[in-house]
Amino acid sequence: MSRKSEGLAARFWESGPSAMDDRICPPAAGAVTTIESLVYKEICHSFRAGRQTRVRPHAALRKKSPPGSGKGSMSTAVAGKGLEGIVAANSGICWIDGEAGVLAYRGIDIHELAVNSTFEETTYLLWNGILPNQFELRQFQSQLALSRELDQRIVDMLRGFPKSATPMEVLRTAVSALSFYDADEADNSHDANVRKSYRLTSQISMIVAIYDRIRKGLEIVAPDRSLTHAANFLWMLNGAMPSDTAIRTMDIALILHADHELNASTFAARVIAATLSDVHSAITGAIGALKGPLHGGANEAVMRLLYAIEKAGADPVEYVKIMLAARQKVPGCGHRVYKTEDPRATHLRRMSEQLGKDAGQSKWFEMSRAIELYVKTAKGLNANVDFYSASTYKILGIDIDLYTPIFAMSRIAGWTAHVIEQLDDNRLIRPRAEYIGPPYPSRWIPVKERP
Ligand SMILES: CC(C)(COP(=O)(O)OP(=O)(O)OC[C@H]1O[C@@H](n2cnc3c(N)ncnc32)[C@H](O)[C@@H]1OP(=O)(O)O)[C@@H](O)C(=O)NCCC(=O)NCCS
Repeated sequence: MSRKSEGLAARFWESGPSAMDDRICPPAAGAVTTIESLVYKEICHSFRAGRQTRVRPHAALRKKSPPGSGKGSMSTAVAGKGLEGIVAANSGICWIDGEAGVLAYRGIDIHELAVNSTFEETTYLLWNGILPNQFELRQFQSQLALSRELDQRIVDMLRGFPKSATPMEVLRTAVSALSFYDADEADNSHDANVRKSYRLTSQISMIVAIYDRIRKGLEIVAPDRSLTHAANFLWMLNGAMPSDTAIRTMDIALILHADHELNASTFAARVIAATLSDVHSAITGAIGALKGPLHGGANEAVMRLLYAIEKAGADPVEYVKIMLAARQKVPGCGHRVYKTEDPRATHLRRMSEQLGKDAGQSKWFEMSRAIELYVKTAKGLNANVDFYSASTYKILGIDIDLYTPIFAMSRIAGWTAHVIEQLDDNRLIRPRAEYIGPPYPSRWIPVKERP
């Protein structure tokens, strides 16, 4: 739902039927979908009838029956493929304007947060809806640091995984297993969900770092509770104190990836939470969704593309031209919501360029930039958050298959914020499918009579 439409709706509810005019019904130009305009009509109808009830799809959108059935059915509005443009939840966490390239957490623009905030402060903001004061921030930081504890049985489990297991598969499985040792596992109350969110946020970064050391045959590094979240991760990963530049780069990357409204993994998390399953199940499902190359897995795919171009000694633009001619997708480009620059890419591009220069390794940035400009010109597609995170992490010396787990390390802040929000005012998420199968009733035929 667009912010403009939300504002209109709020004014409408405040001032009653006298405010009900064409500004509201149908909504302003640029609103998301036909369904949205019909939902607003329904708001008007409800208000007229004095019912401030849950909004239902308008009768005009209810489908009549499955093809060939000859019978009525209860199915409702039909969404486009991939639910594009559909507003599927009310949420006070994250706002995106895809046309203007705006992303805001709890109303605060991502550019402001990237420049001024920290991952800890941003996570507090996402969970609590407001920025912390000094005392609250200190408490939050220390609570997160105190949560840097991993049951020995989880560490033993990590040691037992096959060396071929990717860090993302390991993370998915380990997060599921964390519930065995979490005292609040079966408690879906708000307070218990917040406690689990602290633990999961700290534990996910520990699992990523610890598994990487295990698979490399290195000693596990104990967490340092005096360090920030970003610094502690780099410390546990590398066993050496990170530079200020590396810490700040990681911190900004974590801020930028922390939430993104109803992206695929967050939607998955909310759907699972809404069944009154549990937080660990919701986050496990979210990690599974994030793993795919159309979602978080794209950052790894970008780096593999850059490596392939380098290995082939190819010109990046020529290489990508061939990909596009073969109708292959260029990872890190395009976005379902942004029709202009992804505001997160602005910061990652800058960091990739600066880090590359400082390290005397500008080639990854330069290749990326050439591809970005070409894809923009040839296809009108912009670089997304994953495009420059690849070359940024590369310069930080991070292995490619850790890129998506690092995304998860950050997105846990948003996933948990959404799960808490969902469970604070829950209703089962259960849409319908538009039936396109054989007509009903079709006959069961004995096997001998089948062609
Ligand atoms: C993000 C993404 C899944 C959004 O996709 P979407 O809204 O479902 O759009 P579609 O996949 O339907 O693509 C629409 C058109 O743009 C093209 N397109 C979209 N992204 C493309 C890309 N990265 N490279 C080349 N073509 C692309 C599609 O081929 C399609 O073209 P067509 O209409 O000629 O068939 C898509 O842009 C993509 O796959 N990007 C690469 C993966 C990626 O970076 N994911 C991370 C997202 S943050």
